[in-house]
This record gives sequence, C-alpha cells and structure tokens, in this order.
Amino acid sequence: MNILSFETVAEVADYAAKEIMNAIKGFTPTPEKPYLVLGLPTGSTPIPVYERLIRAYQNEEISFKNVMTFNMDEYIGLTPDHPQSYHYFMQENLFKYVDIPPKNIHIPDGMANNIPAFCLSYEQAIKDAGGIDIQLAGIGENGHLAFNEPDTTFNTPTHEQALTQSTIEANSRFFDKIEDVPTKAITIGLKTIFEARRIIVLATGSKKVEAIHLSTKGPISVKCPASMLQNHSNVEFVCDKKALER
Ligand code: GLP
Repeated sequence: MNILSFETVAEVADYAAKEIMNAIKGFTPTPEKPYLVLGLPTGSTPIPVYERLIRAYQNEEISFKNVMTFNMDEYIGLTPDHPQSYHYFMQENLFKYVDIPPKNIHIPDGMANNIPAFCLSYEQAIKDAGGIDIQLAGIGENGHLAFNEPDTTFNTPTHEQALTQSTIEANSRFFDKIEDVPTKAITIGLKTIFEARRIIVLATGSKKVEAIHLSTKGPISVKCPASMLQNHSNVEFVCDKKALER
C-alpha cells in the first residue's frame, strides 16, 4: 500500500486527476475491451478531481467517449432529480460537462422495486464490463468505503446497507434537517471494491485522521472497512497533510 502525502487539497486533486487522465489517454479500445472502466465516488472530497477532469475535457486533452463508469452508491428512496441524490451529484459535478455516452453511466437505482435483484444486476454489469480498472474512493469518518459501514464483512458484493448514526450525522450537512437523511443505501460491496485493479483513496482534512490511521496502520478489521485495502496489491491513499497529522 502506498500512502502519498501532499501539502494541499489542490495537490491531492492534481495527482488523482492526472492518474485518471493518463489512464484515459493511454487506453486503446479493442473489441474485447471497448471501455476503460472507472469506479466513481461522491462526497465533497472528489469534487476538485472532477473539476480537473472537466477542465481537461474542455481543453481537449481527454475524451470520455471510451470511458464507462460505475458509481459506488446511492441513497434508497431518493429520485435521480433529488438534489441530494448521487445521480444528481454526478450530473452536476461531472457528467453534464463531459462527452461520456449516457449509456456508459451506471449509478445504483435507489428507487428500484426489487433491491436485491437490482444489486445482483449491478454486480453483473461490472463483471460484464470486464471489472473496474480504477476505483476512485473517498473515505467516511468511520472508515467506510462507499456505504460499507463498520461490521460489513469483506466478501460482500453490491447490497443494501443501513447507514450508521455517525454517517447520517456526517451527511446531514447536505440536508435541511437530519430527519431528511435517508437511513438506507445501495452500495457496491467491499468485495466489489477489492476486485478493482487499482484503487485510489482520497482523504483530505483533519476529520479523516482517525479513519486514515486505522485503515493504513491499524489491524485489518471489519471495524474499519478500509483496513481491508492493506491486502490489496495496487492501492494508494492520497492524502493532504491534515488527514495524516495526528
Ligand atoms: C459518503 C459516501 C462515501 C464518501 C463519504 C465521505 O458517505 N457514501 O462514498 O466517501 O461520504 O464524504 P466526504 O468526501 O464528503 O467526506
């Protein structure tokens, strides 16, 4: 595991955006593998990375025509046009500004009638795409990845997840009141994340100190889901100073 330390949030974003841009530029589609497959997160941490990718597209440095995306998670019960849904977030922060074909965008359907069946189909769609080439991720204050809360076992695929009180509180800053925060989500599983060929975890700000410490230096334990990444052969924690200073 590599832990990269940068002075500022901007440098963290520069690094992650450059890695993704290089992968896009270096990708040659073939009939067997027509798309570079990116796993994408929401949250405030990846926004500066998305800003850089949009800029690179606008400067004609990259195109998303050969990119396929799978988002990590979505709240159950929010429609795609709800301003706090992750569908809406992705449109507003990335997709509406770039040339990704809409059919290449995948985000869990929080309004699905049959959630277990939807989760199976999402997992299958990732497999059919040939797996995730680069999984970009944020990290929760409690060490969660996507919405895999503490005590989720490491071999779980895409599933329905009840959110912990600490996640509901952390995410309530985006809602008018805490009662409006959904209590359940669909999330790709820790197994889904682990199967990605390369994983880039972003962490900025002092609120992530404990999560990063436990994930990278603590025991591998379901108490801190991201600690599982210690066993992955191609993972980077890309952090600013504040997320590393204890
Ligand atoms: C949510 C998302 C996670 C994200 C986390 C941290 O819970 N489901 O994928 O990593 O928030 O968000 P932020 O980057 O805003 O701290």
